[in-house]
Amino acid sequence: MNSPIGLFDSGVGGLTVAREIMRQLPNEDLVYFGDTARVPYGSKSKQTVLKYSRQIVRFLRTKDVKAIVIACNTASALALDEIAAEIDIPVIGVVKPGAKMAVETTKTGNIGIIGTESTIKSGIYNDYIRELNPDITVVSKACPLFVPLVEEGLLEDRVTEDIVARYLQEMKEYKVDSLVLGCTHYPLLRNTIKRFMGDGVRLVNPAFETAKSLKELLGEQGLLNPNRHKPEYEYFVSDGVDKFISFADSVLPIHVNDTKVIDIESY
Ligand code: DGL
Repeated sequence: MNSPIGLFDSGVGGLTVAREIMRQLPNEDLVYFGDTARVPYGSKSKQTVLKYSRQIVRFLRTKDVKAIVIACNTASALALDEIAAEIDIPVIGVVKPGAKMAVETTKTGNIGIIGTESTIKSGIYNDYIRELNPDITVVSKACPLFVPLVEEGLLEDRVTEDIVARYLQEMKEYKVDSLVLGCTHYPLLRNTIKRFMGDGVRLVNPAFETAKSLKELLGEQGLLNPNRHKPEYEYFVSDGVDKFISFADSVLPIHVNDTKVIDIESY
């Protein structure tokens, strides 16, 4: 099927998910929306994130998308079930694929989850993990300073190392051997987190797992694009085009030329 896949995030972070989809599904066209005017979602209530997500889904549907990827952990945690029940095209979030991989990789049965305040408060990773294996111990921790550090480009800075150590010390104490990077920005801190946690801890990137699950889902439903072609990528934001483009250029394997601002409140 030739229609594009729609994906959205609270801002730039979902580009880490777009990057994995571009790599794993190179025939698919994409429409990306980043809600740069209303970011962050990670400290907002379910009601607000659900309202924003519904507006974005209405916008993406005007682009005739064949499936929607909620490329934001917070929106996946707070809005996926409602959105999936309201529309008649497949919707996939980033939480379930990440939780599944963590369960498959742990040997000690101790899994760590890090994410925004709202994702951690929702308890959704714990719920999915316990559904898959009730014997697993889940240690979860909100790491609210990670998002601004990434947005400031401080990926391997001394300050970042100190904050990583402060947030993740308890993950070491609980001897987790599988740590889910449960926020779109955290895979960009992978090297710093890995150095602190050590080689014995597997870092699970939900973005990678989501692209894998999306490929399976589209395949099962006969929705993969069979035409080999240079894929088309369209980008929309609710504010701040220049900042979006410079972040996109640091994350994506391609240069982003054109990004349009839309009035998301009107959807
Ligand atoms: N995209 C968000 C997430 O993955 C992080 C940024 C925010 O708080 O909006 O949870």
